[in-house]
Amino acid sequence: MNIENSRRYYGEVLTGSADLRTDACCTADAPSSVIRTALANVHEEVRARYYGCGLVVPDALGGLSVLDLGSGSGQDAYLIAQMVGEDGSVTGVDATPEQLAVANRHLEWHAERFGYANVRFLEGDIERLDELGLPDASFDVIVSNCVINLVADKAAVFRAAHRLLKPGGELYFSDVYADRRVAAELLQDPVLHGECLAGALYWGDFDRLAKQAGFGDPRLVTDRPLGIGDAAVAEKVEGHRFFSATYRLFKLDGLEPQCEDYGQAVRYRGTIAGSERAFLLDGHHLIEAGRLFPVCGNTWKMLAETRFAEHFEFFGDFSRHFGVFAGCGTTLPYASEGADISVAASCC
Ligand SMILES: C[S@@+](CC[C@H](N)C(=O)[O-])C[C@H]1O[C@@H](n2cnc3c(N)ncnc32)[C@H](O)[C@@H]1O
Repeated sequence: MNIENSRRYYGEVLTGSADLRTDACCTADAPSSVIRTALANVHEEVRARYYGCGLVVPDALGGLSVLDLGSGSGQDAYLIAQMVGEDGSVTGVDATPEQLAVANRHLEWHAERFGYANVRFLEGDIERLDELGLPDASFDVIVSNCVINLVADKAAVFRAAHRLLKPGGELYFSDVYADRRVAAELLQDPVLHGECLAGALYWGDFDRLAKQAGFGDPRLVTDRPLGIGDAAVAEKVEGHRFFSATYRLFKLDGLEPQCEDYGQAVRYRGTIAGSERAFLLDGHHLIEAGRLFPVCGNTWKMLAETRFAEHFEFFGDFSRHFGVFAGCGTTLPYASEGADISVAASCC
């Protein structure tokens, strides 16, 4: 399936999130009060054309430069614009003119609401980001919400994201994954593609592609099984299990293939706005403020060599190795309980 199917599906077939036939492109996460407040500052037409599958607003965004791959009608871009503030900026890229028109139509409305203008949208194909002339290492954070599955050359997207990130930056994104490679006969189905199922990566292939692009230790932040309410769609994909998952991929040199134990620990200062009690790095690392928290070498780097460093105290170094950290798994990483393709869709 190619970009024309995405343009047709998101520009002509769908008129709003209620038209979706699965909950693949809907967000189930309960937003925090900060996000709810920010969402109230997003124009209703933008919100009505939201098709994301996760929350892509990581912590500590103040003053940063953020790129949104497949920004659609602009909901995440306008949310993040409020988090980065006047000194930060957000660039959205999308390939569907109708969705870009919605996003662009409300630029001034949001600038007035926020008191500053820090968002722009570019028309482009995220498989060909090189053609947009964005400079290397020009973004602190790249987000993407339910888009990479739609792209044929996913490796090209990960490579470009790595090139565009500053050292210590991260790709923080939600997408749809499968517990196996999607059967060949389903790959050309335009509805399954548009509904973010046909292009879903087998999680093991995602892990390999991310590492090949230079993202050494992909971290799973949240995941949920997808519900497919449409009986015809459920029948077609029978035997597959699909998940919506949010990952963070840091651009850091020297990340190791496994979590290695150097006897290190960190203590969170509780200084990230909105996460004062505890900081969630990923599904295995909810780090409570004030508490000594043992970490592997990779986690140490994700905290010490990124924008999070100022929010932590660091104990130890890499001078002595104590073996591998327990729990470095290689099986299906998602909570599979309830991963039933017949679950009714409950959208956005
Ligand atoms: C499921 S929607 C998600 C949109 C947006 N992220 C949101 O959360 O509402 C997928 C979006 O990806 C865009 N898209 C698909 N393939 C693309 C490509 N190759 N380059 C740029 N955008 C693409 C579509 O135009 C559509 O807006």
